[in-house]
Amino acid sequence: MFGASSTPQQRLLHMDNPLYAILQFIWDLLVFLVKTIFFTTQTIYYSLLPNYLRKMKNVSGQVVLITGGGGGVGRLLSLNFAKQNARVVIWDINQEAIKTTIDLLARNGYTCKGYVVDISDRDQVYERAAQTINEIGNIDILCNNAGVVCCRPFWDLPDRVIQNTYNINIISHYWTVKAFLPQMMQNNRGHIVTVGSVTGMLGTYGCSDYSATKFACVGFHESLLTDLKTHGYDGIHMTLICPYYINTGMFSGVRPRMFPMLHPQYVADRILEAIRKNEVWCVLPHTIRVLTPLKCLLPAKVCWELMSRVIRGPESMMMFQGRGRVPAG
Ligand SMILES: *[C@@H]1O[C@H](CO)[C@@H](O)[C@H](O)[C@H]1NC(C)=O
Repeated sequence: MFGASSTPQQRLLHMDNPLYAILQFIWDLLVFLVKTIFFTTQTIYYSLLPNYLRKMKNVSGQVVLITGGGGGVGRLLSLNFAKQNARVVIWDINQEAIKTTIDLLARNGYTCKGYVVDISDRDQVYERAAQTINEIGNIDILCNNAGVVCCRPFWDLPDRVIQNTYNINIISHYWTVKAFLPQMMQNNRGHIVTVGSVTGMLGTYGCSDYSATKFACVGFHESLLTDLKTHGYDGIHMTLICPYYINTGMFSGVRPRMFPMLHPQYVADRILEAIRKNEVWCVLPHTIRVLTPLKCLLPAKVCWELMSRVIRGPESMMMFQGRGRVPAG
C-alpha cells in the first residue's frame, strides 16, 4: 500500500489522514536510506570500474541529431557517433560548416546528413524537424549543442546580441525538444543532451548574457528530467554537460590561470561516454565540481577573493577575441 505504484496524486491524498501521513513519511525515509546506500555503492563501484568492463549503451543504428554540428565540438562529436555506427544528422546555420563536417566524416568512411537551420527561428525548427523525421526517421538522441558567446561587460552588450544569445543558447532547446520529445514519449525511449557550461554553475566576467542562458540550461535540464521521471518516462534519459572553456576558437584569447583550456576532442569523447553511460550531470574537468558547493558554503567576500585573486577569472576573460563575429546591435 506504500509502494511506488501509487501516483503522486494518490500519495498526496494520504495527507488527509495524519497517521497515514506519518507512516508514509517514515517509510519514504527508510526507502530513501536504503537507496542512498545502494546508489552510493554503485557509483563508487562504477567510478573504479574501467570502461572496457562496463556495459555501455549501444548507439549503433540510432539516429543522433546534433545542433551546431558544423562547429568545433559538434563536428568532433558527429565523428565520434559515426565511429559508433550511429546515423548522424547535423543542424547548423552555416552551410559551409555543414559541408566541412560531412567532408570530415566522408574522409573517415562515414556519411551524415546536414540541414541548414536557424534554431533561433521557431517556425524553421518545427519545419526542419518534420522534414528530418520524414527523411531520416525518429530521433533517438537529441544533442542541443549549438551556442554563441559575445563576452563583453554588460554595458557593452547590444540588445540584439543579448536576445540572440538567449534564442540560440536556451530558447531553441524548447523548440527542438518540443519537436522530438512526443515520439520519444510514445516509445518511452530516447536521450536528450543539454550542453551547458561551467559558467552555468558560476557567473563569469563578461558573460551576463551567456552565463545566464547556461544557468537556464541547467534549470531546463533538471526540471524536464523531473517531469519525465515523475510521469514514468524512465526510458528517456537526460544528460547535462558542463564544460569549462574549450579551445575551439569560441573562446580564443581567453587565458585561464588555474585550469588549462579543454581540448575539443577530449570534450567530444567525454560527451559520447557520458551519453553511453546515461550520466545525468557531467562536469568537465571533473575537479571543477568542488567549486559549486564552495560557492554555497563560503562567505561572498571569500568567493570574490577566490575568483579575482586566486583564479583571476576577470583578467583571463579580458583577452577574449572569440570568432570576431559579433553582430551589430
Ligand atoms: C549494437 O546494435 C547493433 C544494431 O542493433 C547490433 O548489430 C550490434 O551487434 C550491437 N553491438 C553490440 C556490441 O552489442
